[in-house]
Amino acid sequence: MEIIIKETPEKVADEILKRLKKIINKKRHPVIGLPTGNTPKIIYKKMIEAHKKGEMDFSDIIIFAHDEYVGIPGNHPNSTKTYFKENLLNELNIPEKNLFFINGTPDDLKVECRKVEEAIRDVGGIDFQLFGIGKDGHIGFNEPGSSLNSRTRVKPLTFSTIRYLSKIFGSEEETPRFCITMGVGTIMDSKEVAIVAFGYEKKDAVKRCVEGPITSAFPASIIQMHPKAKVYLDEKAASLLDEKEYYKWAYENKEKMYDYLKNKKEV
Ligand code: PGA
Repeated sequence: MEIIIKETPEKVADEILKRLKKIINKKRHPVIGLPTGNTPKIIYKKMIEAHKKGEMDFSDIIIFAHDEYVGIPGNHPNSTKTYFKENLLNELNIPEKNLFFINGTPDDLKVECRKVEEAIRDVGGIDFQLFGIGKDGHIGFNEPGSSLNSRTRVKPLTFSTIRYLSKIFGSEEETPRFCITMGVGTIMDSKEVAIVAFGYEKKDAVKRCVEGPITSAFPASIIQMHPKAKVYLDEKAASLLDEKEYYKWAYENKEKMYDYLKNKKEV
């Protein structure tokens, strides 16, 4: 697991963009999973800027959304689909056929969940999945108690998530109670997984995710088991980490380590 800590969300977003550029340039059809929420908005802004400057081409990229609210149609102002259109996709050159959104109002929820798994399989798996983290430890909408091997399925939202989302939906009554989310196992099958968090309000969740025990009571902690996991944090979100200074030193000195290994090979 690599922990990347920068002073500000702006600088963290730059690091994520650097990584995304590498992944996008490495493959003909890179497959990326992206989250909704407040946290990634700054990253999406930078993706759009990079696209407008001609630094990033999205025409071959395939994008998956992690989740959708049950009962909320794609054209609802608070659907995941609308979020992506408004915050990212309206500005990028991604063909419609390369976008995968979960349908929150299918005839059969189980069939829809199966479709998500099949769609991921059909494109050869997800190369890079980015997530925010819920204060309750959810990754995607895998709330506490989620099986660490779960696949895409319907999941009830916790009371704290409902309270949080009620700011967007207007009231708790109007907030959906269920969602379809990629499972923890689905997420863990991705070739690379990244979590991003900003601000003091995420510091406890980050501490549990990175340095706490791996437990279904805090599903994001599963990232510790992924062979290629990155956690992107600003100083505030990282403030409770015991090994914060070590993580920073390790990341800042990574290039030196590569140079050292390269030189050794040449000897
Ligand atoms: P946020 O949500 O980015 O709005 O904080 C993150 C999440 O709940 O996964």
